[in-house]
Amino acid sequence: MAKDVKKFDLPEVLPDHIGFIMDGNGRWAKKRFLPRKLGHVEGAKTFKKIVRYCRDIGIKCISFYAFSTENWKRPNDEVDAIMNLFRQYIDEAREHFLEETRIVFLGDKSVLADDIREKMIAIEEDTRHFDKMTLLLAVNYGGRDEIVHAAKLVSEKVRNGEMNIEDITEEKFSSYLYAGEFPDVDLLIRPSGELRISNYMIWQCAYAEFYFSDVLWPDFLPEELNKALFDYAKRSRRFGGV
Ligand code: IPE
Ligand code: IPE
Ligand code: MG
Repeated sequence: MAKDVKKFDLPEVLPDHIGFIMDGNGRWAKKRFLPRKLGHVEGAKTFKKIVRYCRDIGIKCISFYAFSTENWKRPNDEVDAIMNLFRQYIDEAREHFLEETRIVFLGDKSVLADDIREKMIAIEEDTRHFDKMTLLLAVNYGGRDEIVHAAKLVSEKVRNGEMNIEDITEEKFSSYLYAGEFPDVDLLIRPSGELRISNYMIWQCAYAEFYFSDVLWPDFLPEELNKALFDYAKRSRRFGGV
């Protein structure tokens, strides 16, 4: 761990994979009589602080719900503002904190703008060999879409005679998910007061511990994350056992 980062005490047990549902940007802006898109700008700043903190304390895998398959329902100007933030983020990620962090995008990239998709694929390729931490970014991601997409890939294999139906196990099936090679979510954090997962990682959250907070995402700084980590460390995870 770098010398300057241990600003807070940490619990002994840390999750391998923390999932973040970055919610509350719009309400953060509304409270300040600002346009919603400025809430997303502020949320992006928090995202960077949380990524840096997780990397510094040694979390192996972090995932962020950045844009859901349902978020296309929002007004065009808001969707455009969010897409522009993705463009900017991917460019900045190269300059600032690419080192040792593998970046992978989860979700259906095919409907995104060509330049965004190309930037995503390039950064995935260029960071593939990093293993200090994996940063998963869910963009045009839906948990149901992920499962249907995997089901189609598996069906294709069966149809081509490359797989037998009997060989479809949970483990095998999950390897076809967008997040197939990454660990299940241990701790799922949703700020902003909503008590739901809104189609995020529904397969990988089967045994996740949930942490809900009333703090809006732009205000969810490392200090808030630390509260979640201490809360997580107290939980007794039984996975159906005793
Ligand atoms: C989350 O913040 C960001 C995205 C869904 C892209 P919201 O925009 O949902 O913020 P609220 O929930 O309206 O406050
Ligand atoms: C979930 O937030 C999606 C992301 C954070 C990207 P939403 O704001 O879209 O979820 P609902 O509509 O409150 O369930
Ligand atoms: Mg919301």
